[in-house]
Amino acid sequence: MAEERTIRIGMLGCGTVGGAVIRLLHEHGDDLAQRAGVRLAVARVAVRDPERDRGVPLAADVFTDDVRAVVDDPEIDVVCELMGGVDPARELILRGFANGKSAVTANKELLAAHGEELFAAADEAGRDLYFEAAVAGGIPLIRPLRESLAGERVDRILGIVNGTTNFVLTQMSEQGWTSGEAVAEAQRLGFAEADPTADVEGYDAAAKCAILATVAFGARVVARDVYREGISSVTPQDFVDADRLGYVIKLLAIAELEDEEIAVRVHPAMIPEAHPLASVRGASNAVFVEGPRIGQLMFYGAGAGGDPTATAVVGDLVSVSRNLVQGARGLSMAPTNHRPVRSMGETTDQYYLKLHVEDRPGVLAEVADRFGRHGISLERVWQEGFGDEATLSFITHRAQERAFQETVEELRGLPAVHAIASLLRVEGEE
Ligand SMILES: NC(=O)c1ccc[n+]([C@@H]2O[C@H](COP(=O)([O-])OP(=O)(O)OC[C@H]3O[C@@H](n4cnc5c(N)ncnc54)[C@H](OP(=O)(O)O)[C@@H]3O)[C@@H](O)[C@H]2O)c1
Repeated sequence: MAEERTIRIGMLGCGTVGGAVIRLLHEHGDDLAQRAGVRLAVARVAVRDPERDRGVPLAADVFTDDVRAVVDDPEIDVVCELMGGVDPARELILRGFANGKSAVTANKELLAAHGEELFAAADEAGRDLYFEAAVAGGIPLIRPLRESLAGERVDRILGIVNGTTNFVLTQMSEQGWTSGEAVAEAQRLGFAEADPTADVEGYDAAAKCAILATVAFGARVVARDVYREGISSVTPQDFVDADRLGYVIKLLAIAELEDEEIAVRVHPAMIPEAHPLASVRGASNAVFVEGPRIGQLMFYGAGAGGDPTATAVVGDLVSVSRNLVQGARGLSMAPTNHRPVRSMGETTDQYYLKLHVEDRPGVLAEVADRFGRHGISLERVWQEGFGDEATLSFITHRAQERAFQETVEELRGLPAVHAIASLLRVEGEE
């Protein structure tokens, strides 16, 4: 048997994920060493407060508050960044590359803003940057997209990539709660932060969407390219209506190719009850991947939590360590094409629109005419009368976002239209 090498890991952060990584390496260290031919040793750990007991099986003198000492330590082979945030994580990983170290990170915020710079620095240093845990925590997703599907031309990804909002939407759907009530319950159960903005307003999902598009399309996509709408405007009535029509409502991260351009967006959407993503409840994550050869794939599981996320980090640590020992590298993440990102107005989608209108003959024709003028055809129409007022609901065929929004503005101005009661996009049908 070949001689076992020890790879020394410098951790930046020992919180929920970092602590779980250290425990996992301790528990499975011998097994991993045997199978991988590489022993992973946590040599230094930088935290803000090195005095605090973290309940991990490491000697107290391994801890430091000097983050630079970790990335500058010539004995460290791999930097494992689990501190989160853009600064100083970005500078530390870059410094690690400059010092010849590979890196593993779970930091979606950093990658979605500075991925291109970090991937280029990894290439220049001839080192790896692995980030399986940055999207959908414990679900193996980045490696399948980056490696297993390297021969496929993935053309669409639909993902439930934020467990907090999926939990909130599930509660709204099953309990009839408002989003505020469901967020409060999520906070009580530890599924939502004290400040839930990053989750509820879709920032977290947008960062993950940018990373998925970058990996799947070999392109440069950053978080601010991603159109973003959160879940606060979804009402309990929307769930009642969706249910009657055979749909569920999910916050989706969508990355797709449209005419060789990239469309990336995060918003609540109605999906048919029969779609595989419709049955993803609670804080679970799932990502649906489509390509011409592979057809449809779905990845499902725990999108967060210390232990699930730690398995993804440890998998990456094993891979980069083996690469270091063998003098090899993982696939480069340098962009292989320069497809532009479409502005939201140019993208196409199906739409659900519910209007409160005057209950008199001719109103449906008047409203349908506005859709027709903008070249939008209607797939399904429902009409219900309630005395003076009626409800008109529509699902369109795929239409251009700009044309649809212009239609809605015109409808808003019609005297017969009393209110735009609901507007949701429809995914997973065509
Ligand atoms: N938690 C999850 O389920 C999950 C899932 C997927 C991805 N992630 C990602 O994993 C990363 C870590 O998340 P987490 O939940 O483990 O975070 P966390 O519990 O808040 O832990 C962060 C750790 O980093 C240390 N730290 C932060 N800023 C520092 C600084 N400037 N200098 C030194 N140490 C610093 C903290 O030190 P102290 O302990 O001394 O404060 C703490 O040990 C984030 O990028 C997150 O997005 C998390």
